[in-house]
Amino acid sequence: MLLGVVLYGGIYGLSERQLRSHADPVLFSAVIPTDSLSIEVGRHIALTRGCHGCHGKELEGRDFTEDWPEVGRAVAPNLVKYLRDYGPAVMEAAIRQGIGHDGKALYSMPSYNFTNLTYPDLLSLMAYVQAHPVVEKELPSPKLNMTTRWALLRVNDENAVDLVKNLPDFIPFDERSSEARGQYIAMTTCIECHGLDLRGTAWGNPDLSIVAAYKKEEFDRLMKEGIGLVGSVCINVDVNYIQDVVAHDERIRKSFLDSICRTEMVLDENILSALEHDKAEHGKRHFRDF
Ligand code: HEC
Ligand code: HEC
Repeated sequence: MLLGVVLYGGIYGLSERQLRSHADPVLFSAVIPTDSLSIEVGRHIALTRGCHGCHGKELEGRDFTEDWPEVGRAVAPNLVKYLRDYGPAVMEAAIRQGIGHDGKALYSMPSYNFTNLTYPDLLSLMAYVQAHPVVEKELPSPKLNMTTRWALLRVNDENAVDLVKNLPDFIPFDERSSEARGQYIAMTTCIECHGLDLRGTAWGNPDLSIVAAYKKEEFDRLMKEGIGLVGSVCINVDVNYIQDVVAHDERIRKSFLDSICRTEMVLDENILSALEHDKAEHGKRHFRDF
């Protein structure tokens, strides 16, 4: 019993120290604009960067305890109240640097995805949040559980500040080019799920070099309707093998993805057979859909 208390206290204390072990946030100051164009641009940023997805339709906040029980109690706060209570500098540190209002590194907030947001886009985002009415919602206090704290200490898990630090250098292209625009969108949107360098994640989200296999119309459709084509590359793999064997073992999953699903595609044409392509056109989204 005593040992338990000591162990608990030790992990708690050390993990708290780890969450505060970063340098102070780089200072930020801003006067939030109030014009309607900035507010509209901000609304676009909030919608395309997923702020509403996690912080609620009315930015009222959301309790993620049931969605992410492994974290403990992850609670995305009410953003409208947050900005009123803490102001733009504290909010910027949370959004772009991964540092919370209490000075601790965040854990579930994907700040790495927003680090490269430009100053004007960030100001517009704040203009939108500031102009948004407050919608009240009861939210519990957040809490990291012991498993997560232990994982942080063993350095096999990274807090939001670490993830921001691990971002590859952002070398902007000439701002007028469409490549630069695309790079900006990818490095502030797609990296949330496709890996910091867009080369996929250990848990199986695909490497985006797969995009080379898409025709423009197909890519358009994937972005707007969520209907992909290339997922069907794995069509020949036995579904039961995936469900019964691969899905249960991290190691097998990784080697499976590396060997069978990973491709070095530099194609300028669609790689599906005519039959598969036709099925995809008719709504097949995944190799499990028959
Ligand atoms: C994948 C879900 C997710 C997305 C997307 C997301 N957030 Fe968060 N955010 C969270 C969670 C969860 C927290 C609570 C802190 C934590 O667990 O890291 C949080 C915390 C915050 C905080 C407060 C940090 C603190 O405690 O001081 C701010 C500010 C914030 N988010 C702003 C934003 C903005 C702006 C966007 C869009 C650009 C955004 N978030 C997108 C999940 C998300
Ligand atoms: C919130 C998480 C998330 C974000 C953000 C995201 N993706 Fe994905 N994406 C996924 C997942 C998960 C899959 C795998 C789906 C599957 O296997 O059915 C995927 C699959 C894909 C595929 C392969 C589809 C196929 O099977 O042919 C492409 C291409 C893709 N995403 C492009 C993008 C691009 C470009 C962006 C940024 C504009 C983006 N994604 C942003 C989660 C995300």
